[in-house]
Amino acid sequence: MSAANIEFSKELTSFIEEWGKKPGGLIMMLHKIQGEFGYIPRSAAEKLSRMVSLPLAKIYGVITFYHLFKTSKPGKHRMAICMGTACYLKGGKDLVEEARSILGIAGNEVSDDGLFSIDEVRCLGCCGLAPVLQIGNEVYGKVNKDQLPDIIAKYRQL
Ligand code: FES
Repeated sequence: MSAANIEFSKELTSFIEEWGKKPGGLIMMLHKIQGEFGYIPRSAAEKLSRMVSLPLAKIYGVITFYHLFKTSKPGKHRMAICMGTACYLKGGKDLVEEARSILGIAGNEVSDDGLFSIDEVRCLGCCGLAPVLQIGNEVYGKVNKDQLPDIIAKYRQL
């Protein structure tokens, strides 16, 4: 997708027109772009830069400062593994390592088949079920790392 032809929806365009000049607007606009594309493509950041007359370096400064913004396309199935205190204490980190090892990915990469990416996230709000893993809208509680191959296999077929 080149900068010349990336399309923003009408809704996103009018949001940017509304928030372009407001204080704190940059973060709001980046959230909205990520909501539309699932991440922030470089071409979208360039287009935003032109639309609101902000230097691209400033936009990337904000994107890289806040970990919630992604600059690469996530997998079809985004695996969110909770690293909140309860989950961390109950083995959340082991889940992350095991999932990365099964999928052969490091950090925020996407699996070679494009199907999976892993995000370490803050408390998902169901600490009683720690450790918790979420894929799409489905939440798995009290997950043991031995269950991961089966959970992953289920999504490979979707
Ligand atoms: S700490 Fe994981 S759900 Fe709260």
